[in-house]
Amino acid sequence: MEGLKFVLVFFLLAVASSLTFASDPSPLQDFCVAINETDGVFVNGKFCKDPKLVSEKDFFFPGLNIPRNTSNPVGSTVTPVNVVQIPGLNTLGISLVRIDYAPYGGLNPPHTHPRATEVLFVMEGTLYVGFVTSNPENRLITKVLNPGDVFVFPVGLIHFQFNVGEANAVAFAGLSSQNPGVITIGNAVFGSEPPINPDVLTKAFQLDKSVVNFLQKQFWWDNN
Ligand SMILES: *[C@@H]1O[C@H](CO)[C@@H](O)[C@H](O)[C@H]1NC(C)=O
Ligand SMILES: *[C@@H]1O[C@H](CO)[C@@H](O)[C@H](O)[C@H]1NC(C)=O
Repeated sequence: MEGLKFVLVFFLLAVASSLTFASDPSPLQDFCVAINETDGVFVNGKFCKDPKLVSEKDFFFPGLNIPRNTSNPVGSTVTPVNVVQIPGLNTLGISLVRIDYAPYGGLNPPHTHPRATEVLFVMEGTLYVGFVTSNPENRLITKVLNPGDVFVFPVGLIHFQFNVGEANAVAFAGLSSQNPGVITIGNAVFGSEPPINPDVLTKAFQLDKSVVNFLQKQFWWDNN
């Protein structure tokens, strides 16, 4: 009986760990440069281009040195470089972004990446950054970053960056997915299309219904 229990626990652990370590699929060849899907067919990732037709263009993206315009409601702009911009990233489990922040107050609003851990490198400026751990602790971990500093946002956790310096700020970040995904909390909750029933948000956020109506009427800028 004890032996059987041991085998069962071992089996459950093995299943759990194979799920825990799930990430972007590993390539089974040198590369699998993405081509667009045929209508009505879906794969977990993208179809591969014939390797004979692949060229350096499939692995290249220029211009990440160019500052982006941050005159928008949140004062930041994300320039993604993932499998959409570089089809050669398909199956490779990695991507990159550049983030520009307006002087004092430029914000990359609280958001999560459902499929990636992020390693952020500050090139210019001073950023107040943070993430919140999951329930029930919901512990806030923050740091003020300066040029040369690197900070990690673990996969799935809500995080943000806020420019607390007087000048523009610029950061680059590596993400552990070819397609990290972004869920901006305010946009998803108050700006969904169609809107979430206000009774749900009134109870969930313990707000007056008029505040929920006000929030649902706002324009939720997407900085990505
Ligand atoms: C796929 O199609 C979209 C829109 O039609 C286009 O912007 C994109 O560059 C295409 N990607 C590839 C890898 O061909
Ligand atoms: C930045 O964007 C704003 C708003 O769209 C625009 O008014 C402004 O001219 C742009 N600035 C530059 C330098 O392109």
